[in-house]
Amino acid sequence: MQLRPFCPTDRNYCCQLLGVDVLSFPKASCCFLLEKDGTPIGTGAFTPSHSETDFFQILFLAIDPLWRKKGYGSYLLRQLLHKMGAYQKANASIFLSQDNIAAHALVKKFGFQPSPNYCNDDASAVEWVRFCPKPFTSLSLAHSLIAARLCPGSFAVDATAGRGRDTAYLCRLVGETGKVLAMDIQPEAVEATNQLLEQQGLSSIGKAVLADHAQLGQMVSPSSIDCVVFNFGWLPGADHSIFTTPKTSLPALEAALTALKPNGFLVASIYHGGINGTQEKDTLPLWFASLDSKKYGVVQCNFVNRQGKDPLVFLVQCQ
Ligand SMILES: C[S@@+](CC[C@H](N)C(=O)[O-])C[C@H]1O[C@@H](n2cnc3c(N)ncnc32)[C@H](O)[C@@H]1O
Repeated sequence: MQLRPFCPTDRNYCCQLLGVDVLSFPKASCCFLLEKDGTPIGTGAFTPSHSETDFFQILFLAIDPLWRKKGYGSYLLRQLLHKMGAYQKANASIFLSQDNIAAHALVKKFGFQPSPNYCNDDASAVEWVRFCPKPFTSLSLAHSLIAARLCPGSFAVDATAGRGRDTAYLCRLVGETGKVLAMDIQPEAVEATNQLLEQQGLSSIGKAVLADHAQLGQMVSPSSIDCVVFNFGWLPGADHSIFTTPKTSLPALEAALTALKPNGFLVASIYHGGINGTQEKDTLPLWFASLDSKKYGVVQCNFVNRQGKDPLVFLVQCQ
C-alpha cells in the first residue's frame, strides 16, 4: 500500500472517481493517490483552511467502489491526518453531505464531530471537525486553573517571563482592556517575551521588563493585581545553571500575596530534579501549606501516576 503525491497523469482517474476535476481545488492543496500493488484504489487531499495555520480542511477522500468496506478508507484518512500533523497539533475539518452515513461513521471513528454552525448554502453538507487532543501536562493544568478565573480587563503579572508563552496566554485572557506585566532576570528572556508579544499582536496589552520577582512589591501597589503566575525553573533553550531558587522565590511569593486584590489568585508551577535539584520542591510546598486558611484557599495538584517527575502546581485563591 502506498500513498503518494499526485502527478498530472492521475487527473483522469481522480475525475472519474470524484466526479469533479481536481484542478478546481485550491492551488495550495496537498493531493494524494492511494495505490495497492501499483493500482490506484483511492484518493484524498487537504488544504490549510480558515485563517489559523494549524487548521486543515480535508477536500476529498474517496475509495474506488471495488475496494470499499475493506478498511482502506480508514487507512487513507489516518495517513492524511498524519500528513497534516493532526496527531501533533493540527485541527482538521471535512464537509460531508447529510446523507453520507458511511462517511459519518468513518470520520467519527477518528474523533470528528459535526459542527452544526457550519454548513453549505443549501444545508445539504455539514462541516465535521476534529480538534487535536492537547496533552494533559502541568502546563495545561496551570492554564486551565488560570482560564477558569481570569476575566477580560484584569491586571495579571507573569513573574517568570521565560520565552513569553505564559505572558501571551495571559494577554489573550485579559484582552484589549486588560494589562499584563512580565518580568525575568535574564535579558534574553525579556527580549524573547517582548518579541513574541509583538509577533502575536499583543504588545499593547503586555510588556516584559528586566527585574527580579523578589522586587515585585516595589513594582506594583498592594491589592492591585488580579492574578500572578510563577513558572519556576530555568529558561528553556538557555543556560540551565540560571534557575529560580527559594532565596528569591519565597520573597516573590510573599510580595505576590500582598499585591493581589481581595479576590485575586496565584498559580505556581514548581519544577524539580535535574540541575535545579529539589530546593524549591522541599521548601515552597511548606510555605503554601502554612498560609492562613481564613484568608486563602490553597490547592496542590500533582500527577500521582507519573513517577513524581512532573512539576507540582499550586493554586492560591484569596478568600
Ligand atoms: C521555566 S522559565 C519560565 C517559562 C515561561 N513562563 C514561558 O512561558 O516560557 C523560568 C524563568 O524564570 C526566570 N527567573 C529565574 N530567577 C528569576 C527571578 N529571581 N526573577 C524573575 N525571573 C527569574 C528564568 O530566567 C527563566 O526564564
